[in-house]
Amino acid sequence: MEELREIAEPLLAWYDGHARKLPWRDNPEPYRVWVSEIMLQQTRVEAVKPYFERFLKELPTIRHLAEVPEERLMKLWEGLGYYNRVRNMQKAACRIVEEYQGEMPADFDRIRELPGIGSYTAGAIASFAFGIPKPAVDGNVLRVLSRVTKSYEDIMKQAVRRKMEERVEAVIPCDRAGDFNQSLIELGAIVCVPNGAPKCGECPLKMLCRAHAEGVEEELPKKTPPKSRRIEDRTVLVLLSDNRAALRKRPGKGLLAGLYELPNLEGHLEREEVLAYVRELGLSPVRIQELPRAKHVFSHIEWHMEGYAVKVEEPEGDPKSMFFVEKEEMERRYSIPAAFAAYTEYFRHRF
Ligand code: ADE
Repeated sequence: MEELREIAEPLLAWYDGHARKLPWRDNPEPYRVWVSEIMLQQTRVEAVKPYFERFLKELPTIRHLAEVPEERLMKLWEGLGYYNRVRNMQKAACRIVEEYQGEMPADFDRIRELPGIGSYTAGAIASFAFGIPKPAVDGNVLRVLSRVTKSYEDIMKQAVRRKMEERVEAVIPCDRAGDFNQSLIELGAIVCVPNGAPKCGECPLKMLCRAHAEGVEEELPKKTPPKSRRIEDRTVLVLLSDNRAALRKRPGKGLLAGLYELPNLEGHLEREEVLAYVRELGLSPVRIQELPRAKHVFSHIEWHMEGYAVKVEEPEGDPKSMFFVEKEEMERRYSIPAAFAAYTEYFRHRF
C-alpha cells in the first residue's frame, strides 16, 4: 500500500494543531490509557470524561483496581454497561500485580495476553504510553483507511482488520508512534466521520485520499450488517413496602451476570398474573399500578418491557431469592443496570 507511506507527515502536522485536549492524553500513563480505551469502546468521549475522572480518583493505580471489592467496582461502572469489561480489567489488574509488581509491562505481546485486552487496546497502551511502534486500529481507523485506500473490503472481517494492522505497522514513525496512532483515531472521530458527509474540506489527507478523488467516500467503509437481535418480552416489578424496594441478584453467568436487578419475569403478564406471582412469593399485595412500557437494547438482545408497581404489606422476612432495601441505601450501594432505568425512578413513587 504505497499511499500509506505518505500519510504520516500531514497527519502528524494536523494532529499537532487540531487534537482535542482530553484528560487521558495530557498524561498518557499506561493505566490511564487502558481505563480510557475500555470506556471509549462503548461510550462517547464527552460522556466518558466524568466516569474517567471518578474512576481514577477512587482507583488511582492498578493495585487499587486489583483490590477493590467487586460490588464497589460495579457501582463505579454503573451506567457504562458491558460490565464484563470491567470485570476483565480487574482480572488483568490482579495478573499485573502478581506477575509484574503492579506495573503494566512495556511489551506489546505481554499486554495483549492480559484478559480483556485485544489487539487494538494493546496497541493503544503500547504506543500511547510507551512509544512502541505497534498499530491501534479501531473502527475510526478502519474507516479512515478504507477511504484513503478506497478499499471495499468488509471491515467486520478479522482478516481485513489484520491486513490493515499490517499496513499501518509498516508506516508508523518510530519517534512518534503514539501520536501517529492517535492522529488516525482523531481524524476518524472528528473529520472522517461516519453517518453522513465526512468533512473532507478540513482533512489533511484529502490530496491522498482515493475515495475522495472519486467522490465515493460516503460509500465506505463496507460492513456486513450486524445480526439482528433477539427480542425478549419481560415484565418488571417495582415491589414497594414502606420506604423499601425489592432487589434481586442475577446469576453469576450470562447477561448482566452477578448484578442487582428489579424482579422481572419472562413474557408480558396481566395484572392478575402479577398479583398471583407476588402472593406466591409470600407477599401480600395492597395495590398495583401499571407502568409505562420501556425498551432496552443490549448488543445481541432487546428487552421489550412492561412494568407494574406493586405496594405490599411489610413482609416478615425477605421473600425467596430477593430482598428489600431502603431506597437511600439502594442509590448509595447497589449498581442497577441501565436496562431498568425506566423503572427505578418509581422507587420514589408513592401511590
Ligand atoms: N475513541 C477511542 N479511543 C479514542 C482516543 N484515544 N481518542 C479519541 N477518541 C477515541
